[in-house]
Amino acid sequence: TGPKPLTGRKAIVTSGPTHEPIDPVRYIANRSSGKQGHAIAGELAWLGADVTLVSGPVTIPDPKGVTVVRVERAEEMRDAVLAALPADIAVMVAAVADWRVASASGNKIKKKPGEAPPPLLLTENPDILKTVGHHPKRPKLVVGFAAETQDVAENGRSKLERKGADYIIANDVSPHTGIMGGDRNTVKVIGKSGDEDWPDMDKQAVAERLARLIASHFP
Ligand code: C5P
Repeated sequence: TGPKPLTGRKAIVTSGPTHEPIDPVRYIANRSSGKQGHAIAGELAWLGADVTLVSGPVTIPDPKGVTVVRVERAEEMRDAVLAALPADIAVMVAAVADWRVASASGNKIKKKPGEAPPPLLLTENPDILKTVGHHPKRPKLVVGFAAETQDVAENGRSKLERKGADYIIANDVSPHTGIMGGDRNTVKVIGKSGDEDWPDMDKQAVAERLARLIASHFP
């Protein structure tokens, strides 16, 4: 065991879903478990990095050796990520809700007999990866994920450009793959100089391999 390759480097990782309130008791969410993001945060710390993990609501334990900032909404996640800059590495794994309810109700919305269901008007959430990828304090290495159900490679490559990332880790989250919420992952690593298909492995193994790939950029 030589010196740890990421000693002295700072990393920010996002993980988990976001919860977007409808009213004080209801919210819009998604099926992200946080398993992949948390494993990556733990691996970067294992390689010596000073890691801030910004996590949405999850039920899994905190990874060892990282600073965890817990948030619920996308806007809170964005604020926590920006507050953690500057950093050398950003890995945005969270499944951030694309939309939030335009004006969440301060009180519980009541069901009234004979009245039509309330419409939910949505508005766009901030894109945290894109914000970080184009930020004046952009980390040297910016990594995003792309959960797709169609055209994984094409969508991943356009995301790489649009979001200003160095890598996009793309996976097929169609229900038959069991990836969303499951323990295994099959990813395509899309970089500026080409794509690489990694075999099916558990999320911990994906985290180890990705952390080593990240460390290779910090000789
Ligand atoms: O555009 P899409 O949501 O598929 O992009 C996925 C990547 O962008 C992930 O890395 C995710 O964490 C990040 N993202 C984000 N903020 C958003 C939406 C996505 O950071 N509002």
